[in-house]
Amino acid sequence: MSFSAPTKTLTAADILARKGTTPLVCLTAYTTPVAKMADGHCDLILIGDSVGMVLHGLSSTLNVTMEMMTLHGRAVARGVERAMMVIDLPFGSYEEGPAQAFRNAAQLMADTGASAVKLEGGQHMAETIRFLAERGIPVMAHIGLTPQAVNSFGGYKVQGRGTDATRVLEDAKSVADAGAFAVVLEKVPASLADDITAKVPIPTIGIGASAGCDGQILVIDDMLGLFDAFKPKFVKRYAHLAADASAAIETYASEVRSRTFPSADHIFTK
Ligand code: KIV
Repeated sequence: MSFSAPTKTLTAADILARKGTTPLVCLTAYTTPVAKMADGHCDLILIGDSVGMVLHGLSSTLNVTMEMMTLHGRAVARGVERAMMVIDLPFGSYEEGPAQAFRNAAQLMADTGASAVKLEGGQHMAETIRFLAERGIPVMAHIGLTPQAVNSFGGYKVQGRGTDATRVLEDAKSVADAGAFAVVLEKVPASLADDITAKVPIPTIGIGASAGCDGQILVIDDMLGLFDAFKPKFVKRYAHLAADASAAIETYASEVRSRTFPSADHIFTK
């Protein structure tokens, strides 16, 4: 009888230990089949609140609910064996303070099997990050462009340009100091991302930042060309699945209308 060794699921400690070594491969996923595809290649899979825009047609992430995160988190859990599963705390579920954040983070982790949460914010979230980290909830921080703050930023704008770089650097230092095991740097100049990567002791995960970060993350539907409502400038498309799917549907429709769609008889009489 042969036994295959059980797959080891990566932990926050494993991700932290990758600082300055092999770059971390990270992607979002929202469903079981996509999670299965990503798991073999990724160190970390994020159930991002981008699910609201990508799969539910919302115009921002602000209306994403705990219920939506739970549903998609459970689906992803059915497809993941090796990657670390991190889940986003949705807007409104953590900003009131550490106790609210702990209650909702613990609930999402228990309901989905995710082993960490991600939350947006720098210096002003440090107290909450420390509170969670000290109570057994690993936290991935997210600074730079934080999409849940789109109304305060006045759009999805690059953060940390010119003198604003100091603010973003201080954000990175405070979340690291508070105990985050990694930090997402979204839409910041490459030189600033490199500087932060050199100065903080935790892995930096870039998205529209720098190839010099300790890892990269993309929204999977963006990189597969599945979500084409708009394309952030920094996104590289590795496939064009929306275009392929449209062409396939067009062919199907034309075959149905022209009665060239294969008849079942032909298959069953073989
Ligand atoms: O929600 C999300 O998918 C994210 C990533 C883009 C980092 O926060």
